[in-house]
Amino acid sequence: MYKFFGAILLVIFFFFGCSSETFNSEKALQNRYAKFLEYQPDSLAFPRSFYLDKNVINKKPSKDWTSGFYVGNLWQLFELTGNMKYKEIAQKWTAFIEKEKYNNKTHDMGFKVFCSFGQGLKHINSKQYKDIIIKSSQTLSTRFNDTVGSIRSWDFNKKRWDFPVIIDNMMNLEMLFEATKISKDSSFHKLAVQHANTTLKNHFREDNSCFHVVDYNPTNGNIRMKVTHQGINDNSAWARGQGWAIYGYTMAYRFTKNSKYLARAEATAHFYLKHPNLREDGIPYWDFNDPDIPNAPRDVSAAALVASAMVEMYQYTKNENYLNYSKKVVNTLMSEEYILKDTINAPFILKHSTGNYPKNDEIDEPIVYADYYFLETLLRLKNLKK
Ligand code: GLY
Repeated sequence: MYKFFGAILLVIFFFFGCSSETFNSEKALQNRYAKFLEYQPDSLAFPRSFYLDKNVINKKPSKDWTSGFYVGNLWQLFELTGNMKYKEIAQKWTAFIEKEKYNNKTHDMGFKVFCSFGQGLKHINSKQYKDIIIKSSQTLSTRFNDTVGSIRSWDFNKKRWDFPVIIDNMMNLEMLFEATKISKDSSFHKLAVQHANTTLKNHFREDNSCFHVVDYNPTNGNIRMKVTHQGINDNSAWARGQGWAIYGYTMAYRFTKNSKYLARAEATAHFYLKHPNLREDGIPYWDFNDPDIPNAPRDVSAAALVASAMVEMYQYTKNENYLNYSKKVVNTLMSEEYILKDTINAPFILKHSTGNYPKNDEIDEPIVYADYYFLETLLRLKNLKK
């Protein structure tokens, strides 16, 4: 008899003991999402990344290129969960970004304004939000040079560069394309097309990977140099840069239906997916050419960005390989290895992103834009099912 009860107790203990240890990814995600409601709106403290070793949030003002992602995360959490609290808090944070519409010192207007006000517009038909997107597009247009045929990316490092254009800049075109749809002023669309065409001509290599920075002579439009700023070397394939290219040209195809753009996105996607250094779990190392591979840091932000782009590429091509990659990345990220522990009280979801490796900054950390593209991928997959 005692033996019988003993056996039953052992089974119960084993069952519950094991199940409490089993990682529940849905629950872990819900716990992470809840952290976004605990973090109070503050116009000077947009969470950008999290220093795991110091247990400190890296906070930035709205002028930082990443500010819009945090706001976009709140809007996307509202869309995913339907919980109005995210909407209320998203509206408060969105308002803090308005002053960026006059900031002509950066090309990052799309990241800041479109990931915030653009996401908000999906849920609120606001004239104010539309006007802010148009004003921001006018400001961004002032950085366009007709002779080069591009928007200037950075103003810093003037001793080295005359007119640097980075592959990341493709992402800012989404706001310009949308500004034309909102305002019916075709100038934004035309300018975005010119930028995309110039980048198409000059940023890509024979193997379909891309350079990070192309520097032009603004007087005659000649190329001065093709280099890197965030990769391991000038000829390397910086993972997030490949992601900006894949996403950027897929998005440009959405607005133009120019088959050259889709072909560009697919060719670079092919380079990325077939690369022998892409990890088995689908998460790239921060640079495909880091000699420290397999001990180099990973970049979840690149994986999430490409995963999101590939849901869209799948819709245009019906190529299952793209959808499979997106699903694989989501599957990988929904694990204890990648989701932050509940005990970390900061509004971030995922670990293992790399911000700026050459500057030894934000290495293997949670970073806001990884969460942004992860949430976007979840939403795109969800909408695909519908
Ligand atoms: N746009 C800057 C970066 O990707 O780090």
